[in-house]
Amino acid sequence: MTDIVVLLPGDGVGPEVAYEARLALQLLAPDVEIEEHLLGAAAIRATGSPLPDETLAACRTAVAVLKAPIGDPEFDAADVRPEQGMLRLRAELDTYANLRPAVLGDVDVLIVRELVGGLYFGARGTREDGTVFDTCEYHPRQVERIVRRGFALAAGRRGYLLSVDKANVLETSRLWRRIVDEVAPEFPSVRVEHMLVDNCAMQLATGPERFDVLVTENMFGDILSDLAAAVTGGLGLAPSACLSDLGPGIFEPVHGSAPDIAGQGIANPAAMLRSTALLLEHGLGRLDDGRALARAVDEGLALAPTPDLGGTATTAELGAAIRAQLAVDGFPARA
Ligand code: NAD
Ligand code: IPM
Ligand code: MN
Repeated sequence: MTDIVVLLPGDGVGPEVAYEARLALQLLAPDVEIEEHLLGAAAIRATGSPLPDETLAACRTAVAVLKAPIGDPEFDAADVRPEQGMLRLRAELDTYANLRPAVLGDVDVLIVRELVGGLYFGARGTREDGTVFDTCEYHPRQVERIVRRGFALAAGRRGYLLSVDKANVLETSRLWRRIVDEVAPEFPSVRVEHMLVDNCAMQLATGPERFDVLVTENMFGDILSDLAAAVTGGLGLAPSACLSDLGPGIFEPVHGSAPDIAGQGIANPAAMLRSTALLLEHGLGRLDDGRALARAVDEGLALAPTPDLGGTATTAELGAAIRAQLAVDGFPARA
């Protein structure tokens, strides 16, 4: 049976970087069928829903989902918003483990972010007196499964896991800390430490090379991953993989729809292409192709940097340079 990858081009710079990802994926995996569907603001405009039923159904049966960023300032104050579609997609596919690598020179950090719990999914509302609330909730099982992922990933790397929380204030963080300590004996090769999130932000900014794997809850992981991206070359470079236990993963850049540069053809496609490399590796199990693409992205970036990196290349020029590198490196390997 043909593998189907669902491509969600999204909003803003989304379609611009999604196009480059499509070309690279077609080149590396010509046997894979790419099916485009609507998500986000584009989906609201076409159907009224940020996650149309048809998109969700296609994602469920796909082997993996390649998602460009969504979001549009037009909907910032609306009741139905693009972001609701992506949060629901994450929840429906139960992609609880969000891997956000940040690599540059001596720095090699992997943020393992819990993706379907916490403040993003707790009870929210407005009380009679006008008070508005969002609640941070975690069930022990939700914590345990992401913490186990963090340990397993650390065991396969440099064996150092840092659990990040706010245990000096939050009940959910105290639960988190307890579970990390309970799971630790199962992974004797991993050295584990705890750190408060505010200190972690400072240390990531000043000495990111000391980190290996960092495991944390949803909101802390969101904020720390933009920071980790910033200290390793910027948002234009940072990919991510959102994984469940059994079903299809979602592969997407850390960055958003970048409305300030949308339509100009200058967005950096590297984050989207590195997410495509993660898709090849984790979603399709094609490790060699994923590595080939990741290497071609590095090489392409050195030859044709986009304006966010101080260069002058357009999105299309960097995309083309990366595809040319795939050829130089001897692709296709399996002719
Ligand atoms: P953003 O990540 O879109 O942009 C932040 C800054 O980084 C901007 O100056 C932007 O130009 C720059 N930038 C981002 N990606 C870039 C790229 N590939 N190349 C060059 N420069 C790039 O964050 P924001 O402006 O706070 O959010 C805009 C919208 O994106 C919001 O609606 C938000 O909800 C949404 N968003 C979506 C996702 C997602 O779909 N995964 C992630 C983050 C934000
Ligand atoms: C991200 C984004 C999303 C998040 C938003 C758009 C809902 O910032 O993927 O990092 O907060 O998870
Ligand atoms: Mn974010």
